[in-house]
Amino acid sequence: MQQEIKNDLILRTLRGEATERTPVWMMRQAGRYLPEYIQLREKYSFFERCQNPELACEITLQPVDIVGVDAAILFSDILVVPQAMGMEVQLVEKLGPLLPQPIKNQADLQRVRMPDVNETLNYVFEAIKLIKQELNGRVPLIGFAGAPWTLLCYMVQGKGSKTFDEAKAFCYQQPETAHALLQMITDTTIAYLKGQVAAGADVLQVFDSWGGLLSKHDFEEFSLRYIRQIVAALKESVPVIVFAKGAWGSLAEMAATGAAGLGIDWCIEPQVARRLAGDQVTLQGNFDPAKLLAPVSRIEKETKEMLRAFGPGRHIANLGHGILPNVPVDHAKAFVNTVKEFRFEDL
Ligand code: CP3
Repeated sequence: MQQEIKNDLILRTLRGEATERTPVWMMRQAGRYLPEYIQLREKYSFFERCQNPELACEITLQPVDIVGVDAAILFSDILVVPQAMGMEVQLVEKLGPLLPQPIKNQADLQRVRMPDVNETLNYVFEAIKLIKQELNGRVPLIGFAGAPWTLLCYMVQGKGSKTFDEAKAFCYQQPETAHALLQMITDTTIAYLKGQVAAGADVLQVFDSWGGLLSKHDFEEFSLRYIRQIVAALKESVPVIVFAKGAWGSLAEMAATGAAGLGIDWCIEPQVARRLAGDQVTLQGNFDPAKLLAPVSRIEKETKEMLRAFGPGRHIANLGHGILPNVPVDHAKAFVNTVKEFRFEDL
C-alpha cells in the first residue's frame, strides 16, 4: 500500500527534479537537544526507547512537529545491528557505546551470528509501520543503518574512539578475518534495510561516520566495497543516501555506486564537492553543527551563504554531522526556517 506523501521535496530533490525550494532535515534530529526527548530519557533506558515502537514513534515525530523539518528519521541506532548479531551493546552515560566483548580475532567470529532480522529486529519494522501511520503522509520517513566499516569500528574497538586504532590494526593485521566480518555485517544490513523498506521507509541513509579515518585506498578496500553492495541491493526500491564523513576524496567513487544522494561535512566547499561528485547525484549537508551555537543572526546569514554555495536543485540542506546536545531548540529552528524561507528567485 503506497501512501501519497504531501511534502515530497526530499524525494523529488533526490530524483534530480526541480523544486520550489531546498528541503531540509538535520542528522540526529530526533533526540538529545529536545526537552521533550530528555523527559522520556528519565523514564526509559536508551535501548528500551529503541525497542518500544510507541516510544520510537513518538521520538521520531518530535522534530517534525517541533522544528518543522522536511523528513522524519527513524529513532533507533546503528548499534542495533551488532546487537542483533549477538553482541552485547550498552550505552553508558557520558562514555557512549560500550561493547564489553569486542571481536579481536578469528576465534571471536564464532560468537557473531547471522540473525534472522524478522525476528531480532522486528521491533524496528513495527516502529516504522506505526510511524508511517502517524505521519499520515506529511513528510517522507528516512530509514538508516551504519556502514559496515563504522560498525566494525565499534565491534572491534569495543567503544568510541577518536582514532579507532585497534579496529584499524585488526584490519591491517588480520585482513581475512576483517573481510569475513565486514561481509557478515553487509549481508545482515542488506536484509535489515530491505525489511525497513518493506515496512514503509521512503529513503535510506547509510552512516559511515568513521570513513574519513581511512586512506583512499583503504576506504575502498574496507568500506566502499561493502557500501557498494548495500546500495546495489536497495537502490531500485528507494533512494539511498551515503554519508561517509571525511571521506570526500572518494566522492566520485561514491557517486558511481548509484547512490541518489551523498552527505558531505563542512570541511569541503560545496562547489568542490559538486565538481568531484559530478552532476548526477544530490548533495546533502554541510552546515557545521557547532555553528548552531552561534547567535541566531549569524546562523541565518551563514545558512543563506551555504544555500547559495550549493545553488538551486540537487541539494538537501542538512548539518555536516549530527546535531550537538547543547544546541538551543530556537537555533535549530532558525537553521530550518532560514532554509524554508529562502528563494533563489529573490536573489
Ligand atoms: O538521526 C536521528 O535523530 C535518528 C536516530 C539516531 C541515533 N543514532 C539516536 C541516538 C541515528 C541516525 C544514530 C546514528 C548513529 N549512532 C551514528 C551515526 C551518525 C553519527 O552521528 O556519526 C553513530 C556513530 C552512532 C553510535 C552512537 N549512538 C553513539 C556514538 C552514541 C553516544 C553519543 C551520542 O551521540 O549521544 C549513541 C547514542 C545515541 N543514539 C543517542 C541518540 C539520540 C544519545 C543517547 C541519549 O540521548 O539517550
